[in-house]
Amino acid sequence: MTRVCIFGLGFVGLPLALSFAMRGCQVTGVDVDKSLVEDLNNGITHHLESYGDKSIQEILRDELASGRFQATLDCTKALRECNNIVVTVGIPVEDGRHDLSPVTSVCRSISQGLKPGDLVIIRSTVIPGTTRSVILPILEESGLKAGQDFFLAYSSERIAEGKAFYEFENMPAAVSGINDISTERAHELISIVTKAPITRGSQMEVVEAAKVMENVSRDVDIAMSQEFARFARALGIDIFEVIKVANTHQRVNLLTPGPGVGGYCLPNALYYLLPKAQEMGVELPLLTTARQINDSVPALVANLALRNLTVPPRQAVLAVLGIAMKDYSNDDRISPARDVIEHLLQAGCTVKAFDPAVPSRYPFKVDSLEDAVKGAHGILVLARQNGIDYQNLALLRESLVGPNPFIVDTKNIYSRPEVESYGLKLETL
Ligand SMILES: NC(=O)c1ccc[n+]([C@@H]2O[C@H](COP(=O)([O-])OP(=O)(O)OC[C@H]3O[C@@H](n4cnc5c(N)ncnc54)[C@H](O)[C@@H]3O)[C@@H](O)[C@H]2O)c1
Repeated sequence: MTRVCIFGLGFVGLPLALSFAMRGCQVTGVDVDKSLVEDLNNGITHHLESYGDKSIQEILRDELASGRFQATLDCTKALRECNNIVVTVGIPVEDGRHDLSPVTSVCRSISQGLKPGDLVIIRSTVIPGTTRSVILPILEESGLKAGQDFFLAYSSERIAEGKAFYEFENMPAAVSGINDISTERAHELISIVTKAPITRGSQMEVVEAAKVMENVSRDVDIAMSQEFARFARALGIDIFEVIKVANTHQRVNLLTPGPGVGGYCLPNALYYLLPKAQEMGVELPLLTTARQINDSVPALVANLALRNLTVPPRQAVLAVLGIAMKDYSNDDRISPARDVIEHLLQAGCTVKAFDPAVPSRYPFKVDSLEDAVKGAHGILVLARQNGIDYQNLALLRESLVGPNPFIVDTKNIYSRPEVESYGLKLETL
């Protein structure tokens, strides 16, 4: 039986661990978050993933019952019992500066329990060069030599939250090891879950850089659409329709604008490149500008609401629908919706935000659509979410107050004639 140990049981690590378990592997998930480990061992997760007709909650309970999955804080015991180690711990970015410490700390723990013959695969998104120049020396503190006594590879993680099980299986993957045998060992392990082609990169740095470039390219594409949205708006045409028409071109695939760019992956990508680029004397003006454009969008969205107020902001109540960092997600880390809310709060408004998928607690969060919209002067739609009845325009109209009830729609949910037929004003990007 293949034994796998997954370090980090977050949005990537948990569904990945369960994907191995579902295919018959014996999987131990290691995390430093005590309450998360307890919840998982009790069959509790807030993630919104599914595979076939089973939710991640059902899969988790099934795999706990089968004995093929367990979560633990005990890294030493986990390492003693397995020889395939996968790291999915992230590199957070704060104020534009990345923090390698979660990755270095997990690698130090692994180094203490590393055994001859072990395989270590890094699946975290990293600063290109990290696996060789940072992780390898830490793992070799074990006294074992990489590529000889143990095997080391980098394989990028490309899943989107909400589609994790499907994309682990069907998204083409890429892998590269410190030497051929490491690449082959990693390829073999990944093939248990991934049925799509797995490209072997010639160097780990290539696969690491490709992953960051994938993320940056989406950030740049969205910035371009955001900028074009301003042009379309001034011209009096609908940016979403423009993009729909442009995308009928077979070699064009434009991304849509929204309230900003959120999540762990895209906004962080530039900051994985900048320090290295500065060190090497390389400038990245396009990528830097794209990030600035995307960073500026939440303030613009907040202003779309503020300029429609007929009362001073301090007397205004605004309803926000959707707090998640993207549609149909429970993840509100680096969420543009939260940035929009922050701008509204700073302007002095009262905000009532509803998002049934996001478990985080905030003083501005309410428990129902009715609570959010009742007595509000306007509504901002910042993420699509199951469980929000956006189309209940009768409810929205009767709940809003003031002479200029309005909806700021960043998600292209509403048709203008319909919204206006209810006496509501529609603001779009
Ligand atoms: N979230 C995504 O959709 C996605 C997609 C592709 C790639 N990635 C990349 O995958 C990595 C993980 O992202 P995520 O969204 O799952 O992050 P996450 O924050 O949801 O999960 C990381 C987990 O690692 C745990 N952790 C931190 N330090 C640890 C340690 N020393 N030992 C064990 N566990 C530790 C944390 O407690 C947390 O549960 C990141 O590099 C991210 O960029 C994420």
